[in-house]
Amino acid sequence: MEIIHLSAECYPVAKVGGLGDVVGALPKYQNKLGHIAKVVMPAYRSKFMQENEFEVVYDSWVALGAQNYPVRIFREKTNKLGFDLFLVHIDGLTDREKVYGYHDDTERFIAYQIAALDWINQWEHKPDVIHTHDHHTGLIPFMTGNCERYKRLSNVPTVLTIHNAQYQGQFGWDKLHYLPAFDLWKSGLLEWKNSINPLASAIKCAWRVSTVSPSYLEEISYHANGLESLLASERGKSAGILNGIDNDVWNPEKDPMLQKNFAFRTVDSGKKANKAALCAVFNLDPAKPLFTFIGRLVGEKGADLLPDIFHNALAHSHGNINILVLGSGDPVIESRLEQLKHWFGGNYNTYIGYNEQLSHQIYAGADFLLMPSRVEPCGLNQMYALRYGTIPIVRRIGGLKDTVVDIGDGGFGICHDQTSVWDVGNAIGRAYGLFQDKKQVKEIRKYMMQLDHSWDRAAQQYIDLYQM
Ligand code: ADP
Ligand code: GLC
Repeated sequence: MEIIHLSAECYPVAKVGGLGDVVGALPKYQNKLGHIAKVVMPAYRSKFMQENEFEVVYDSWVALGAQNYPVRIFREKTNKLGFDLFLVHIDGLTDREKVYGYHDDTERFIAYQIAALDWINQWEHKPDVIHTHDHHTGLIPFMTGNCERYKRLSNVPTVLTIHNAQYQGQFGWDKLHYLPAFDLWKSGLLEWKNSINPLASAIKCAWRVSTVSPSYLEEISYHANGLESLLASERGKSAGILNGIDNDVWNPEKDPMLQKNFAFRTVDSGKKANKAALCAVFNLDPAKPLFTFIGRLVGEKGADLLPDIFHNALAHSHGNINILVLGSGDPVIESRLEQLKHWFGGNYNTYIGYNEQLSHQIYAGADFLLMPSRVEPCGLNQMYALRYGTIPIVRRIGGLKDTVVDIGDGGFGICHDQTSVWDVGNAIGRAYGLFQDKKQVKEIRKYMMQLDHSWDRAAQQYIDLYQM
């Protein structure tokens, strides 16, 4: 089966969050199953672009209304990622340093989707499936199904994976003329609440819809940023498939970013060495339990509560715990987290920014990882933590609920019900108690590290979905 993944992110080419991790791994695992999975994404001005070799496979232009933009599609020559990677370069639109956050993101992603389809449309053969990810590629199912220009692709099945329904990419009807011509009676397929809504359109038009965990599929029928009724009405074609993790990249036995590699048998000495190195850099005491948070500092992740949670925990524990934060996002949260350093230096530190290597070192060196998310469609951090012997402390929601079982229920994590200062504080208290029982901690770590969260299972589930 030939599968084309269209996505704004793909690790290690461009990653902002878990979407990048998923699209960097799933195609590789689908290829291992004997399929041909390819990734077609925008060409950003990234390190990957500068450091690798490419050949041009398509040279043309794309029109957005009256404006024409030159397009080139590059193929990475060596197949080093385990799949064919195609980068869509559009002069003046895609060639920026960041993935998102520009005033013209709507134009950038519409142009990328049109250019990608123009290219696929003129192949001699047709792919078996077009798999789109999130709203940045959400207009594809509408366009292949309804635009005259892509009539040839109208019988190619389309799949939408919703990684996060909070973000929908809405824009005004004044931009309708960017899209290639279609029968205007079909405009309703683009609309949700008076705007053109790419995520809603893909939910309507894709042949199948998936969410990145079974629990999230349940939750979006009552909590999906305004799309609840639409998702409920399209439920019949929807499935919840739990993400996996890339065991080649996230492997404590071989991870080149760690101070010391380790396996479940050597978890004690391995984590000790990684923790010591981390604590030395961040002026923390390796004898104390190390709690951490890694991620986007936004309300969705419960990050707005972290300053108060940490303040309480540090004040009440009388210097007996350590906390380290790696993240970036809301500037108010960033500065409140930074301020805590003045009060609790020696027990608390932060790294505000994005740092892939440091994230690996923290998963390896920490004792506990906090995820007090309000919304968590899947969450990959907790799965990385499990693999690196770090006990997850999570809110029972979305993918966190599907992957972490509380120690009180015979499991290996600490779960709480609400994203509240009280609930998370209580969970930290439980963790502190657990940490005193070294034997139990060791057993839990060994158990967690042997759990199999690799993509092998989910890659096949997607194939089954395509076959339907
Ligand atoms: P989301 O995609 O909603 O941000 P996920 O848990 O699915 O959440 O994935 C987050 C990914 O981004 C993980 O690979 C995590 O390690 C990484 N990550 C998040 N913030 C940072 C950061 N500041 N530095 C390095 N990696 C980060
Ligand atoms: C989104 C979600 C996150 C999920 C990731 C990968 O960013 O917020 O929960 O793990 O996509 O699917």
